Amino acid sequence: MRPKLVVGNWKMNGSRANNATLLAGIVEGLGQGNGKASAAVCVPAPYLHQCADALAGAPLAWGAQDVSVHASGAYTGEVAAAMLADFGCRYVIVGHSERRAYHGESDELVAQKALAALNAGLTPIVCVGETLAQREAEQTNAVVGKQMAAVLELLDEGMVERIVVAYEPVWAIGTGKTATPAMAQEVHAQLRSQLRARSAAAADKVAILYGGSMKPDNAVELLAQADIDGGLIGGAALKAADFLAIIQAA
Ligand code: PGA
Repeated sequence: MRPKLVVGNWKMNGSRANNATLLAGIVEGLGQGNGKASAAVCVPAPYLHQCADALAGAPLAWGAQDVSVHASGAYTGEVAAAMLADFGCRYVIVGHSERRAYHGESDELVAQKALAALNAGLTPIVCVGETLAQREAEQTNAVVGKQMAAVLELLDEGMVERIVVAYEPVWAIGTGKTATPAMAQEVHAQLRSQLRARSAAAADKVAILYGGSMKPDNAVELLAQADIDGGLIGGAALKAADFLAIIQAA
């Protein structure tokens, strides 16, 4: 059985003071539990240093929310994967729907970001998901399949084994609307078979997280699905008690 993974996506939220309280609360709660789920937080880049300091030795990994496809050089405003690794990141989210929507990130660019992360020794959390219009037009499988295919085409087999995938239906993000466990499982199973067609080892190893209004009160049912290996948590990751409750559920 794949170990469960719960990742908080702080998005563009936080301040040094609030982060200190939140991180301390999460670490304290993790210390009390004896759960087997792994946990991480993906924070805005300026706070990576704070995570490296506050989380050294703690059972909570950290990461970033985006990465450049370039290694270094004249790319004003960008952050290289090696820089994230330098700050002790284990994870980086790539292709979140907010970046696809507001920054025009294509499936191919997202795949290149995953490659850049892997080359620096990071684990990319590759986000895929359909909009409401696409779901209503019964395009979910095609859209998600194409997003995933771009990544599977670019990475070699050994690299595919090292990614994490997050299925996040866009209509469920920050809306309070969650995919039903059956709806999510259907897409997760499709992603798993797509991985299997590329590499059986990867299909068995790769964690496929669900994201989109996952909360303490719906986490147990979602996480009980055969192909849901954890969660990518937005709003509920900003409250230590809620985030801990989801980790506990996992
Ligand atoms: P949400 O966000 O949990 O607030 O819906 C999830 C995400 O966007 O990663």
